[in-house]
Amino acid sequence: MTKTIGILVGSLRKDSYNKIVAKQFAELLPEGFEAKFIKIDDLPFYNEDLEVEGQIPEAWTRLREDIKGVDGLYFVTPEYNRSIPAALKNALDVGSRPMGSSVWGGKPGLVVTVSPGGPGGFGANHILRQSLVFLDVPTLQQPEAYIGGIMNLVDNDGHLADGTVKFFKTITDQYIEFFNKLTK
Ligand code: FNR
Repeated sequence: MTKTIGILVGSLRKDSYNKIVAKQFAELLPEGFEAKFIKIDDLPFYNEDLEVEGQIPEAWTRLREDIKGVDGLYFVTPEYNRSIPAALKNALDVGSRPMGSSVWGGKPGLVVTVSPGGPGGFGANHILRQSLVFLDVPTLQQPEAYIGGIMNLVDNDGHLADGTVKFFKTITDQYIEFFNKLTK
């Protein structure tokens, strides 16, 4: 049966480098796997007061169902002020509640951070991993994916350099091995 990898992108902007990287990772998935991009840009901020029948925002319910329906998770995100963008953190929070009903647990994860800066979103990468530990999302440890200097890796048509795609393929191969080990 085909396995589905849910892809969450931390950047909401149209011409996002992270979106380019996420699409490339989606294309590299091998036979037997498919990608599903998870919509996070319309989620109202998490507020426990809304967790009552009739008041739960439709977008929260959609996100929770989307995550329940996927087998693995890719997080592809920029770093905002040495942390993760609020939109991505909000998605994590929405999916984690109500208490005892988190939809994240046990799904093998991949963390990729993308930045024009040299450190490649190192801070965001590890802050995201901190939440994923608590949410019981096991993440691939190696190779780590800090994609720095991204503007030099993408041409004017939005294509990634061959060496970069090759690196993404290595990450993908390791992730699939990790996924298969955890889900067999
Ligand atoms: C940034 N950026 C940024 N970059 C980085 O490497 N470390 C950081 O802490 C920050 N902080 C930060 C805060 C905010 C509010 C914004 C909008 C941007 C720059 C960021 O990496 C750059 O805009 C990327 O291009 C964003 O990714 P997308 O949108 O191209 O996918």
